[in-house]
Amino acid sequence: MQELPFSPRNREGLSMPFLGLAALLLLFFASPTSSCTEQENNSLINFLDGLMPDGNGGLNVSWVKGTDCCKWEGIICSSDGTVTDVLLASRGLKGGISPSLGNLTGLLHLNLSQNSLESSLPTELVFSRSIIGLDVSFNRLKGHLQEMQSSNPSLPLQVLNISSNFFTGQFPRTAWDVTKNLVALNASNNSFTGQIPSSICINAPSFAMLDLSYNQFSGNISLGLGSCSMLRVLKVGHNNLTGALPDGLFNATSLEHLSLANNGLQGVLDGSHIVKLSSLTVLDLGSTGLSGKIPASVVQLRRLKKLYLEHNNMSGELPSALGNCSNLGYITLRNNSFTGDLSKVNFTMLDLRTADFSLNNFTGTIPESIYSCTNLVALRLAFNKFHGQFSPSIGNLRSLSFFSVTGNSFTNITNTLQMLKRCNNLTSLMMGTNFRGETIPHDETFDGFENLQVLTIDDCSLTGQIPLWISKLAKLQMLDLSLNQLTGQIPSWIDGLGFLFFLDISNNKLTGDIPAALTKMPMLLSERNATKLDTRFLELPVFWTPSRQYRTVGAFPSKLCLDNNNFTGAIPPEIGQLKMLDILNLSSNSLTGEIPQEICNLTNLQILDLSNNQLTGAIPSALNGLHFLSRFDVSNNKLEGEVPSGGQFDSFSNSSYSGNPKLCGPMINNDCNSGPSSAPGKRRNNLRRALVIGITAGGLIALILLACFLIARLAYDDHTENVVPL
Ligand SMILES: *[C@@H]1O[C@H](CO)[C@@H](O)[C@H](O)[C@H]1NC(C)=O
Ligand SMILES: *[C@@H]1O[C@H](CO)[C@@H](O)[C@H](O)[C@H]1NC(C)=O
Ligand SMILES: *[C@@H]1O[C@H](CO)[C@@H](O)[C@H](O)[C@H]1NC(C)=O
Ligand SMILES: *[C@@H]1O[C@H](CO)[C@@H](O)[C@H](O)[C@H]1NC(C)=O
Ligand SMILES: *[C@@H]1O[C@H](CO)[C@@H](O)[C@H](O)[C@H]1NC(C)=O
Ligand SMILES: *[C@@H]1O[C@H](CO)[C@@H](O)[C@H](O)[C@H]1NC(C)=O
Ligand SMILES: *[C@@H]1O[C@H](CO)[C@@H](O)[C@H](O)[C@H]1NC(C)=O
Ligand SMILES: *[C@@H]1O[C@H](CO)[C@@H](O)[C@H](O)[C@H]1NC(C)=O
Ligand SMILES: *[C@@H]1O[C@H](CO)[C@@H](O)[C@H](O)[C@H]1NC(C)=O
Ligand SMILES: *[C@@H]1O[C@H](CO)[C@@H](O)[C@H](O)[C@H]1NC(C)=O
Ligand SMILES: *[C@@H]1O[C@H](CO)[C@@H](O)[C@H](O)[C@H]1NC(C)=O
Ligand SMILES: *[C@@H]1O[C@H](CO)[C@@H](O)[C@H](O)[C@H]1NC(C)=O
Repeated sequence: MQELPFSPRNREGLSMPFLGLAALLLLFFASPTSSCTEQENNSLINFLDGLMPDGNGGLNVSWVKGTDCCKWEGIICSSDGTVTDVLLASRGLKGGISPSLGNLTGLLHLNLSQNSLESSLPTELVFSRSIIGLDVSFNRLKGHLQEMQSSNPSLPLQVLNISSNFFTGQFPRTAWDVTKNLVALNASNNSFTGQIPSSICINAPSFAMLDLSYNQFSGNISLGLGSCSMLRVLKVGHNNLTGALPDGLFNATSLEHLSLANNGLQGVLDGSHIVKLSSLTVLDLGSTGLSGKIPASVVQLRRLKKLYLEHNNMSGELPSALGNCSNLGYITLRNNSFTGDLSKVNFTMLDLRTADFSLNNFTGTIPESIYSCTNLVALRLAFNKFHGQFSPSIGNLRSLSFFSVTGNSFTNITNTLQMLKRCNNLTSLMMGTNFRGETIPHDETFDGFENLQVLTIDDCSLTGQIPLWISKLAKLQMLDLSLNQLTGQIPSWIDGLGFLFFLDISNNKLTGDIPAALTKMPMLLSERNATKLDTRFLELPVFWTPSRQYRTVGAFPSKLCLDNNNFTGAIPPEIGQLKMLDILNLSSNSLTGEIPQEICNLTNLQILDLSNNQLTGAIPSALNGLHFLSRFDVSNNKLEGEVPSGGQFDSFSNSSYSGNPKLCGPMINNDCNSGPSSAPGKRRNNLRRALVIGITAGGLIALILLACFLIARLAYDDHTENVVPL
């Protein structure tokens, strides 16, 4: 992208001899000529007065009335003493923007970006007769942008950045008639409504950049785009735009970056149109509602680096010449209805780093040509109809870090692991729902996988035992072997996996006790040491539940799921050491004995499921101290005594306790004093009811806190609202 004009430019015009003379004169009549005028002085002081005392960024130190304002912090003057630049970005300014700045008649650049200014934006500044660059982005400015009042032949404004504020209302229509010099307009991340402006380019022939994304604009993309011959960047994603892609859009042939993502558009991508945008490097049409095929002519977009078409209704086969887009580095087609044998495409693309073909109906084997994309970092083929085995050439993918093939019909897990172990950089390997009914290799030595952090081989109906080679995966953080037919015990080496914080071995046929090793897993014992963990972003977001996606491994909850196996014996009291646990599910086993008191030490717990076992004794009342607990289930055991109340326990329903005939308490409408009721008992109950009401309020607050906590832990992706895991 070219530089946009907003830097000190030559204040041209005066010839050398004249300057020489001026310098001489300066020597004679030293200094006062270059100081700013009293009006400028006053205007700036007025601006300072409009700031809060605790939000003036310390400007009051140098901004002293009566001194030369050209020497004030953040002020730049021209040689004749005219204030030309007010540059006060990131100064912690709070308060309002005084319209008095509009009285600085020589002001060219005003930069108040990245402060906490809260007023409206004075019209005097937007429609200033001098300002060419106005940046008030990242503040808390609000209100509407005004229409231009008086008619003015032409304003000098070239760059207007009002992004990331709280502006509302319709975008002014007539205003753009006079901004004939406008080059860049960024109004993204506000709450503007109504139509997007249609006449900017008609009036401003040099207009090059328009970013209106993350607003609430509606209606058609009705820009007079045909006139935007210089437009290089058009971002109007994340709005409520409707209708088809207008033909005029494709007359803006200088476009390099086009993003319409997350709008309610319709129609198809017309091949004869798209080919006109031959300068495109980024084409983002994800979640727009497009249908139809990818036109063969996209391969003529030779500069294309990023292609986003995910979450649409597109279908058909990929253009076989797609590989000719030799600059393509990022392609996602996730969640469409594409079909056909991917091997028809020659993927010899050296720049390809990330490719996501998941959630389509692609068939065939993995195209051999993809193994020549030696810079490939992330490849997701999940949820398609691929089959076959992996070829040894997959070892060529030395940079491959993220690889997901979940939900296909691949076969030969032994071979797959043998091939993939050569991809030394692999950190996330997801291959569940494949290899139906095979046996997981046990004694194989897979020297390799030394960087593996995430391994999922769930839902494959695999037989065999939890294999020994997993104990060598020293960096493993997440392991999912659920929904298989694995037998045997939980291996005693499990606590040797020093980074493991997510273990799901549920829905297998595992037996034996809950071993002591499991209660010593280092990452669950103490504060997850962020420095020990690799906090890099995943190359592609991972979808684990319908509504959540994760951008980093560390954002996943700490989890231990042993449910639906044949585990026996008591729950070891040492389980109380796993203080970092968020989720503990021991449901549907044959566990006996009492619920250990120590379980009350798991203060991070959000889910505790002990249902469908043979547990006896009472429910520890101190469990009501678990403030984040949102799901609790002890149904179908042999528990007895009083159900705890208070804290989160006032929010659990009867079903949490059903199937335990000997449990009692007001929570489950089963009076603990089933004998002749004594007066003191009743009084105690009343007292308890009063307490319950009081504590419910507390519970509500805890719930809200939990919600905030959960939201904070999730990082949502720009491009999606998703439906299927992985
Ligand atoms: C701008 O200057 C004029 C004349 O000096 C003055 O009357 C007016 O109040 C000033 N406006 C602001 C907003 O300070
Ligand atoms: C305003 O200042 C910020 C911080 O220095 C800078 O990033 C931004 O580019 C400036 N705005 C313009 C339009 O130059
Ligand atoms: C505001 O937008 C302008 C034009 O694109 C740009 O030069 C400037 O750096 C942006 N400001 C910030 C803080 O990013
Ligand atoms: C517009 O501003 C936002 C920040 O508010 C920034 O993220 C975005 O990159 C800018 N758009 C362009 C095209 O520079
Ligand atoms: C949008 O604005 C909010 C509030 O100013 C800011 O926190 C957020 O980072 C902005 N988002 C983008 C994408 O720039
Ligand atoms: C686009 O350009 C073609 C000719 O190149 C012209 O006929 C057509 O009217 C233009 N469309 C718009 C909407 O400007
Ligand atoms: C998706 O496309 C199919 C035909 O390919 C059509 O029947 C269906 O209505 C479309 N769905 C949406 C949501 O546009
Ligand atoms: C894939 O094809 C099947 C029929 O073969 C169809 O039911 C399914 O909806 C298709 N899936 C997608 C994502 O298009
Ligand atoms: C795929 O493309 C590469 C480079 O363009 C070429 O060398 C190779 O022969 C092609 N392979 C096939 C099977 O066409
Ligand atoms: C493997 O990953 C490391 C760390 O991310 C990186 O520095 C290195 O370049 C990668 N190796 C290859 C062959 O891509
Ligand atoms: C699975 O792969 C292994 C090792 O590559 C090979 O020896 C074996 O024959 C394969 N089994 C089948 C059924 O293809
Ligand atoms: C715990 O596991 C059981 C059995 O697999 C399952 O039905 C239940 O939904 C799980 N509990 C929670 C709270 O996820």
